[in-house]
Amino acid sequence: MISSLSILASALLAASSAAAHPSRFAKRGTGVIQCPVVFSGLVPADATVADFDTASTSPFNTGFVRGSESFSEILLLPGVTPSSRFDNDSTQALEVTINDQSIFQTQNGFRRVGLQFKDDSNEGGQGAVGVRTLHWSVKQDPTKPLNLTHEYLNVWHEAADFSANQFNFEMGTIIGTSGADKDNFKILNRQNTEVFSVPVDEAAWQNFAITLDFDKNTIQIFYSAGDEPLASVTDVLTNDNSGGGQYQIGMLKKPTGTDDVVNSGFQETGIDEGQIYGGLFLEDSADGCISL
Ligand SMILES: *[C@@H]1O[C@H](CO)[C@@H](O)[C@H](O)[C@H]1NC(C)=O
Ligand SMILES: *[C@@H]1O[C@H](CO)[C@@H](O)[C@H](O)[C@H]1NC(C)=O
Repeated sequence: MISSLSILASALLAASSAAAHPSRFAKRGTGVIQCPVVFSGLVPADATVADFDTASTSPFNTGFVRGSESFSEILLLPGVTPSSRFDNDSTQALEVTINDQSIFQTQNGFRRVGLQFKDDSNEGGQGAVGVRTLHWSVKQDPTKPLNLTHEYLNVWHEAADFSANQFNFEMGTIIGTSGADKDNFKILNRQNTEVFSVPVDEAAWQNFAITLDFDKNTIQIFYSAGDEPLASVTDVLTNDNSGGGQYQIGMLKKPTGTDDVVNSGFQETGIDEGQIYGGLFLEDSADGCISL
C-alpha cells in the first residue's frame, strides 16, 4: 500500500514537473547522427537568442546574412515539441523570420535572412569537398505564414563567385512558372531543373537531406515526414557541384513584377513571416555514410 502510494506520488510529481519544464520531458526525435559532423547548426537547449549575436556562442556567422537588425532581433526559439528527427533533449528548434527591414546590403528586391555555418568558408572550406550530406528539418509557423505568390529560396549552396547555386530548396511560385505547385517544396539542381517536390505540410516536421559528391559531381535527395527515417527520393543524379562556396539556410523572398529581382520589384509592407528549422548539420558521407 505504502509503495503504491509512493509510486502514485512520484508519478504525480513527474507529471507536474513535466508541465513546468516541457522541453526536458518533451517527445524527442529518434534520429541518431551516424557519421562525422563537419558543421553543426544544432542549437543547444539552453541557448538564448542573444547567443546568436556573439561568435563564441553562435553556431552561425553573426554578421551574415541579414539587414541592420541583429540576429537576436530576427531569430526566435519557438520551443517546438515534439522536436525534429535529429534534435533531442539537449538541442532545440530555431525560427528564421523576415520583415520589412530584412534587406541585405543594397539588395532592395529581396527580403532576406540567412544562416551560414560558423566554420563554413567561401573558398577552400570543408563544406564543399569529398562527399557531404546537408541535413535540415523544417516546420511551418501558423502565426507567420508565407505568401506563396512569391518565390522563396530557403536552403541552397552558392558557388564562391555567386554565379550559380549547386542546388536550391524553394517554396512558392517560381518566377516564370504558373505556380501550379506553389504549395510544394521544390528541390532544383544547378541547372534549375526540379529533381524533387513534396507538398508543404502545415503541421508536421519535414526532414530533408542532400548528398553532394564533390568528386563525382552528383546529388541525391532524401526525405521523410514527422519522425520517420529518411529515404532516398531520387537516384544518384549527375550535378555540377564545382565552384566551392557556402551553404545558406533561411529565407530569401523574391519580389514580383521585375526582371531584376535583386534590386527592384514589388514587396508588400508589413511582412511577418517565418520558417522553423531543426536538426541542421552537415555530415561527412565518405564511404556512403548517411544518417537516416
Ligand atoms: C543529442 O544530440 C547531440 C547531437 O547529435 C548528441 O551529441 C547527444 O549525444 C544527443 N543526446 C542524447 C541524449 O541522445
Ligand atoms: C501576396 O503577394 C502578392 C504579391 O506581392 C500580393 O498582391 C498579395 O496581396 C499577397 N497576399 C497576401 C494574402 O498577403
